[in-house]
Amino acid sequence: MKAAKDYIVFPLDVSSLKEAKQFVKLLSGHIGMFKVGLELFISSGPEIIRHIKDCGSTRVFLDLKLHDIPETVFRAMESIANLGVAFTTVHCGESKEMLKAAVAGSKGQVGVLGVTVLTSVSDKDILAAGLRPEFASDMSMLVMQRATAARDAGCSGVVCSGFEVGMIKEKFGKEFTVVTPGIRPSVGSMKEDDQKRTTTPAHAIQNGSDYLVIGRPIRNAKNPQEAAIRIAKEIETVL
Ligand code: C5P
Repeated sequence: MKAAKDYIVFPLDVSSLKEAKQFVKLLSGHIGMFKVGLELFISSGPEIIRHIKDCGSTRVFLDLKLHDIPETVFRAMESIANLGVAFTTVHCGESKEMLKAAVAGSKGQVGVLGVTVLTSVSDKDILAAGLRPEFASDMSMLVMQRATAARDAGCSGVVCSGFEVGMIKEKFGKEFTVVTPGIRPSVGSMKEDDQKRTTTPAHAIQNGSDYLVIGRPIRNAKNPQEAAIRIAKEIETVL
């Protein structure tokens, strides 16, 4: 059975390789997967991926949220497929062709996750983007539409808020991976930030989430290792 810590994805949202390596040292063994995003990948390139793998068995999630014409996405995905990472991401909002190109480029060597609607997006943002008003009053409709496009294109799963996990699992089955960001633990206080549709670790797991992306609650804690352990304990209560 998957251990509680294996549900935790820690995003290495730092700008230097040096800082990233410090977090890898501190948190290896206490979380399930390190996520490398745009900030770090732009500054350090694939070296951080090699470093994480050299440090043990922790898997890597390369979160580049691709969004471009299908040919460019296909070629970028071919390069990602050679890096030996577990998961990577592509935006779902553009076209099914882009999603299909991402899956084709991955050559089955990396799990492609479709980003449905960012957890920082509010109903006002949906209206301002010119999307249908019913998507603003019920964002889960938009998430489901995009998750369907991802599944039809052959993606391994999606990224969505903790609110839509249950619906997605019910419609697409257990094997369709769901990754949930916007997680705010019930223990400890945090000041408000850019995340809008947040859930607690326990809530997201109870809804069926496979992985929780938890950044600032761990990174900004006085003791990040203790924070990760505390969150794993919260997860354990609902497994
Ligand atoms: O927990 P915290 O808010 O700090 O997590 C931020 C991380 O979550 C960033 O790495 C960001 O890329 C990721 N994220 C995501 N999808 C979203 C929202 C945030 O992958 N919808």
